[in-house]
Amino acid sequence: MAENVREKARAFMKGHCRVCPQCNGRACAGEVPGMGGLGTGSAFQNNYDALKAVTLNMTALHGVKEPDTSCTFLGRRLELPAMAAPIGGVSFNMTDQVTEDDYIEAVLGGCEEAGTVGCTGDGVPPFIIDAAVKAMKRHAGIPFIKPWEGAELFEKLDRVMDCKPLAVGMDVDAAGLVTLRKMGRPVTPMNMEELTKVVEHCHKQGFPFIVKGIMTPQDAEKAVACGCDAIVVSNHGGRILDHCPGTAQVLPRIASAVRGRLAIIADGAVRTGVDVLKMLALGADCVFIGRPVSVAAIGGLGEGVRDYFAGIKGTFSQAMLLTGVGSVADISGELVYRD
Ligand SMILES: Cc1cc2nc3c(=O)[nH]c(=O)nc-3n(C[C@H](O)[C@H](O)[C@H](O)COP(=O)(O)O)c2cc1C
Repeated sequence: MAENVREKARAFMKGHCRVCPQCNGRACAGEVPGMGGLGTGSAFQNNYDALKAVTLNMTALHGVKEPDTSCTFLGRRLELPAMAAPIGGVSFNMTDQVTEDDYIEAVLGGCEEAGTVGCTGDGVPPFIIDAAVKAMKRHAGIPFIKPWEGAELFEKLDRVMDCKPLAVGMDVDAAGLVTLRKMGRPVTPMNMEELTKVVEHCHKQGFPFIVKGIMTPQDAEKAVACGCDAIVVSNHGGRILDHCPGTAQVLPRIASAVRGRLAIIADGAVRTGVDVLKMLALGADCVFIGRPVSVAAIGGLGEGVRDYFAGIKGTFSQAMLLTGVGSVADISGELVYRD
């Protein structure tokens, strides 16, 4: 990411994000609201450390010259298998210098220009979903709605489906969010009957459904049984439960349980194209990137986000080249170095 974008973000995000050289959850431990991980910050740090611990088999004796970084996700072609994670609540998590509207417009618009897709978040203040709806009328997007109780949930689902999104998502792990609790609107986990009802509601209107916050093979199996089209292997960037393992640790077992039955997205401390390659080698079809995209949007708006993903595409292509894979479909567990 360009240094001037990082500097501007650092100035704007003062008190919320230090824009560290390594975005690993150490300096911001416990800062929720803010950009940190919950409690000791260990779940955010585990995401970073688990991904860092994965090493790759390097090879330069092969015929790949120009890797093709593109992929297809839920029927849409992406320039690279990386999208912007759903992130909301700019004023209480990031800065008062950029509005929620300008932020989410930058994320979705920048992603579109880079040939990928951005997701939108949700929360207690209505301005989060309002901003998402406005931006999704102009750009492709994937909205993530919280598991609200009763009519509000279905009203919000219908509102976002009016924007013709690529898919509809739900972060079922929101039951752990202190921000919702602090605002007097906590939500609870969902049982399979409740989730199936939501999935069917979206399917009836023709939209695929993504469930976010899967950390065990058992929950992944439940997602399959409820008819979900994709899961996000995620611990919400370490903001839900302190002492969660890193997502790169749990991904291989989840992938071997459900791969081929639904699409697998993974997130958590993906910071470079090499990290994208690692997550795919561990079993994901695609990744979400969170905090660095927020920094790019706050410091550089749409251009910042576009250039950020262009950089990720470059490092991903280089990583593919030096591991000898010509296409995303060729990425497998064999790229991971094992003693
Ligand atoms: C400030 C902030 C707000 C977030 N808001 C949402 C949200 O509204 N919905 C959601 O599904 N996830 C939300 N997340 C979680 C991200 O989608 C994603 O899972 C996480 O940030 C990925 O880790 P990374 O930031 O280390 O890349 C939020 C994360 C942060 C840091």
